[in-house]
Amino acid sequence: MTARIAILTISDRASAGVYEDRSGPAIEAWLKAALTSPYKTERIVVPDGVDSVAEALAAICDEGSADLVLTTGGTGPAPRDLTPEAMKRVMEKELPGFGEAMRAASLREVATAILSRQTAGTRGRTLIVNMPGSPNAIRTCLDAVFPAIPYCLDLIGAARIDTDPAICAAFRPKAK
Ligand code: MTE
Repeated sequence: MTARIAILTISDRASAGVYEDRSGPAIEAWLKAALTSPYKTERIVVPDGVDSVAEALAAICDEGSADLVLTTGGTGPAPRDLTPEAMKRVMEKELPGFGEAMRAASLREVATAILSRQTAGTRGRTLIVNMPGSPNAIRTCLDAVFPAIPYCLDLIGAARIDTDPAICAAFRPKAK
């Protein structure tokens, strides 16, 4: 089964064309290097906002039936950073360990990593993982949590993903 991965860039300025989205392509490049099993990506850019983000996430999960959604942006404390509020609306089960692991890894690089309220959670058979908007954060965050993502997808009944162990050593506690 081909895994479906949606990449959601959340940014007022990128969605208005004020600047080019660099984080979405960085996620795509990381996946290209790390995944060995078949997958398809879809890239979407939406403005910041609880409604805009929650509606996009619900549509991707419920209508598009993606296995995995990787978001970038809107996790900080500024007035228009509302990704966590949108996540609260759409998540069925929060997985707080993802945010903890990404902040811990990022804090080794930048003191301001503490400002990200990024989290992860499931909606039906879809796993949603937030990352900060900085293109520099993408590799650090994906390196930190992706080893646990294939097994999480197994557990929620999503498509199987396999990774190149030289890039990302995915861990499955039980042989699956
Ligand atoms: N994490 C990493 N790895 N690298 C970064 O540059 N930027 C931080 C933080 N986490 C950053 C990071 C900053 S400055 C902020 S404000 C928060 O992520 C939230 O970013 P966001 O609002 O773009 O999601």
